[in-house]
Amino acid sequence: MAKIIAVVGSTGVQGGGLARAILADPNGGFSVRAITRDPSKDNAKALAAKGAEVVSANLDDVESLKKAFAGVHGVFGVTNFWEHFSAEKEKAQAKNIADAAKAAGVKHVVWSTLEDTRQFMTPDDKRMPILQEKYRVPHFDAKAEANAFFSGVPSTMLVTSFYWDNLYMFGLAPKKGDDGVYAWAFPMGNAKLAGIAGEDIGKSAYGIFKAGQQYIGKTVGIAGEFLTIEQMGQTLAKNLGLGSVKYNAVEPDVYRSWGFPGADEMGNMFQADRDFEKQMMANRNLDEARTLNPALQTFDQFVTKNKEKIVAAANPAPAPVSQ
Ligand SMILES: NC(=O)c1ccc[n+]([C@@H]2O[C@H](COP(=O)([O-])OP(=O)(O)OC[C@H]3O[C@@H](n4cnc5c(N)ncnc54)[C@H](OP(=O)(O)O)[C@@H]3O)[C@@H](O)[C@H]2O)c1
Repeated sequence: MAKIIAVVGSTGVQGGGLARAILADPNGGFSVRAITRDPSKDNAKALAAKGAEVVSANLDDVESLKKAFAGVHGVFGVTNFWEHFSAEKEKAQAKNIADAAKAAGVKHVVWSTLEDTRQFMTPDDKRMPILQEKYRVPHFDAKAEANAFFSGVPSTMLVTSFYWDNLYMFGLAPKKGDDGVYAWAFPMGNAKLAGIAGEDIGKSAYGIFKAGQQYIGKTVGIAGEFLTIEQMGQTLAKNLGLGSVKYNAVEPDVYRSWGFPGADEMGNMFQADRDFEKQMMANRNLDEARTLNPALQTFDQFVTKNKEKIVAAANPAPAPVSQ
C-alpha cells in the first residue's frame, strides 16, 4: 500500500510542487493527502482531479492538523510568513505542525526552513535594523528557531532558496523605464544569490521522502544555481528579447526606505544574502539538490519555461486613466 504524505501548503508553490511530484509518479510508493483550509479552491480541485485526497486543516488549529495527519507516513511542513508578516505566528504554526506530527506518530517530517541570520552578526551590529524586536530577517530567523520544535520527530530540515518565481509572483521582474531600457534594483552588490525554481523545492522534498531513513536527522540545503543579479539580468535579456537589463545596485538602506509592505524585511534579507554570500552558499548544495531531483532547473531553463509570465510581469498593463 502506498505511504501517505500529508502536504501542508499543497495549494501553494512548495507544497504544490511536492504534491504534483508524487502524483506524477504513481508507481513511486507514495500518495498525497493535500492539506488546505479551503478544499473548494481551484488549486485544491486540480490536485483532487489528479488523484490527491484533499483534507481541510488550519495551521492555527493543532487539533485539525492531528486529524489531517492521522495514518500518514510523512508530513511536509511549510508556513507562510507573507500572509501575516509575523515571526511569532510563524513559529506557533510550525509548533502546531510538529506537535500534531508527534501525536500522529508520523515517520518522517520534512520541514521547510531557512537559516538564522542572527548567527552572522553580533547583537550590537548596526548594519541592518532589528525587526519585530529580536530578528534580523524574521522569516528566516523564525523558521530556524522553529527547527527545535521538530526534535523528537523523525525529521529532515530542508533549507530552501529564493524562488526565481518571485520575478512574476512578487513583482520583482525588471521593468521598462521611460528611457525604454529594462531595469531592476536590488541591494545585492556583486554577490551571488542562491536561487531555485519554486517547483524544484517540492521535487527535492519528494526525493528526500523517497530516500527515507538516510535523511532523518539531517539538514539539507538546496538551490538551483548561485548567480549575481547581473548574470540573471543577462539571462533575462538573452531569453526574453529585452535588449539589455540595467542593474541598479542600491544600498540596503535605500531599498528599506522604499516603504512597500515588507521593504524592511526584504532589505534585510538581500543584505544578509549580500554580506554573508559565502555562508549562504555553503549552506546549500547544488549537487545534492540535483541528486534529490535530477530535473533541477537552471535559471536559463526556468526563464525559457516561464517566458510568457516573466515578460508579462516586466511589462505590466498601464493603470487605467480616470476620466
Ligand atoms: N518566495 C521565496 O523566494 C521564498 C524562498 C524561500 C522560502 N520561502 C517561504 O515560503 C513560505 C511560503 O510557501 P509557498 O511560497 O509555498 O506558499 P504560497 O504559494 O504563498 O501558498 C501558501 C500556502 O500555505 C497554506 N497556508 C497558509 N496559511 C495556512 C493556514 N493557516 N493553514 C493551512 N494552510 C495554510 C496555503 O493553503 P490554503 O490557502 O489553501 O489554505 C497555501 O497552500 C514563506 O514562509 C516564505 O518565507 C519563500
